[in-house]
Amino acid sequence: MGLRIGDTAPNFQADTTEGKIDFHEWLGDSWGILYSHPADFTPVCTTEIGRTAQLKDEFAKRNTKVAVVSVDDVKSHNEWKKDVNETQNTSVEFPIIGDEERKVANLYDMIHENASATATVRSVFFIGPDKKIKASITYPASTGRNFAEILRVIDSLQLTAKHPVATPADWVPGNDVIIGLGVKDEEIEEKFPKGHKIIKPYLRTTPQPE
Ligand code: BEZ
Repeated sequence: MGLRIGDTAPNFQADTTEGKIDFHEWLGDSWGILYSHPADFTPVCTTEIGRTAQLKDEFAKRNTKVAVVSVDDVKSHNEWKKDVNETQNTSVEFPIIGDEERKVANLYDMIHENASATATVRSVFFIGPDKKIKASITYPASTGRNFAEILRVIDSLQLTAKHPVATPADWVPGNDVIIGLGVKDEEIEEKFPKGHKIIKPYLRTTPQPE
């Protein structure tokens, strides 16, 4: 069975384009994103790795480290990285993990045999500072990821880890949020001094706390 929300993100040691890492040690106290791509020297993957590099400051602002994996080796990643830098006008500085033995791919169930027997799908794992899986998204090889959505999920996870709130459909930072069902009506004013609306007993909103 694949990894589920609340499971510990499996640790591993691996060779990467930034040297050898122990995944948990490398994460330290940061949030983490581990994502897989199907193969080096492929077009959609080239744009994804480039976009990730372009968003370096956005991930840093969120105290989030990104590592990427495919079943290619580090030599191939390093050769391909030059193309990514050139075509996407960026500088890839995060680790791309060499996983030719599929150790990481198997640990994270990233090879979906009915899609491809050999290549990883586009998995994304969001990992908290406690090393637990907080969310995951899976795309097929033919669909490049939406990195605005990935940043949005990190924002929601970090906000809801800090405050007893949930984020509604299509929420983006700055929008109102939903007051958690565990908060009693009589506690709202103290917990959410910016104001609130009670639309239904179970649907109560407040401006984003921060
Ligand atoms: C791509 O990155 O473009 C790609 C990789 C594997 C299969 C299909 C597309």
